[in-house]
Amino acid sequence: KTYDVAVVGATGAVGEAMLEILAERDFPVGEVYALASARSEGEKIRFKDRTLVVQDLAKFDFNKARIGLFSAGSSISAQYAPIAAAAGCVVIDNTSQFRYDDDIPLVVPEVNPDDIALYKNRGIIANPNCSTIQMVVALKPIYDAVGIERINVATYQAVSGSGKEAIEELAMQTAYLLNGKPIEPKVYPKQIAFNCLPHIDVFLDNGYTKEEMKMVWETRKIMGDESIQVNPTAVRVPVFYGHSEAVHIETREKISADEARRLLEKAPGVEVLDKREPGGYPTAVTEAAGRDPVYVGRIREDISHPRGLNLWVVADNVRKGAALNSVQIAELLVKRHI
Ligand code: A2P
Repeated sequence: KTYDVAVVGATGAVGEAMLEILAERDFPVGEVYALASARSEGEKIRFKDRTLVVQDLAKFDFNKARIGLFSAGSSISAQYAPIAAAAGCVVIDNTSQFRYDDDIPLVVPEVNPDDIALYKNRGIIANPNCSTIQMVVALKPIYDAVGIERINVATYQAVSGSGKEAIEELAMQTAYLLNGKPIEPKVYPKQIAFNCLPHIDVFLDNGYTKEEMKMVWETRKIMGDESIQVNPTAVRVPVFYGHSEAVHIETREKISADEARRLLEKAPGVEVLDKREPGGYPTAVTEAAGRDPVYVGRIREDISHPRGLNLWVVADNVRKGAALNSVQIAELLVKRHI
């Protein structure tokens, strides 16, 4: 059995990865529709041995697709996801548009696969924020074993999370600055090359950014535990692909670093790289970029807290943080539900 799939935002950083991963994992596609704005209409994209011609989303008839992978921004999802769902196309939405609606499932397959069944409510499944996904994949086995009261996390997020223009901005600024030429920031409010910006998404009334609050709201919803306290600082760094996170947790019961390492070594979707020597830890560029697992290293007990544990968590934000997670949801959807 095959499924006709529409990729909305097919010319973007995540959309391209969605097509790549559908092909790589041999998802049982029938027709594949590459949709983007009118600006890209007629562009050609390779998919396995086919050539897809990009179509204008505004003119697409969603009766033709059974599954829609959306990654063209929140306002596009707000407008088109309900139209697609009404036409019988199940939407897997990578934007934040529907994530916090009570009747919309928010799914990380390694953590809460059964929530996919709630797609029936509105025909939409939300894909979480990239930083949240990799963190909950790493924390789920620890949560199940000893509970988690509180999470302190600082992120080091790659520019690909802001899309293609941001990838270009980092490349251009780097080249210009190394050649002694002046630069003018466009996508980000300050220079991103050779710099770190403690600001992702908009500022909210409580002084946190929306990216930070996404990690609070989404962690609770995915883990199904409103009592987990989460205190994030989200930072954009001059890395192209791969988010890193310094995660500090306080568990309900004490867990040793050795026990945590053993749990993580057999956890689905996780790869432990934790030798206490130079290079014995994962990084965005050398391990995560272009690969599927969530890498965990620097596992150690917190010397400042009796039930504290520290971890370094790294993953490809475009793959596990977005496109891969969406395709994994689609795989479960067709296996169990449609
Ligand atoms: P387009 O390339 O035609 O602008 P990124 O996150 O890398 O910036 O990519 C955003 C994706 O969302 C692109 O595929 C882009 O298509 C798509 N997109 C942006 N605006 C619209 C729109 N109004 N209608 C359909 N797709 C859109």
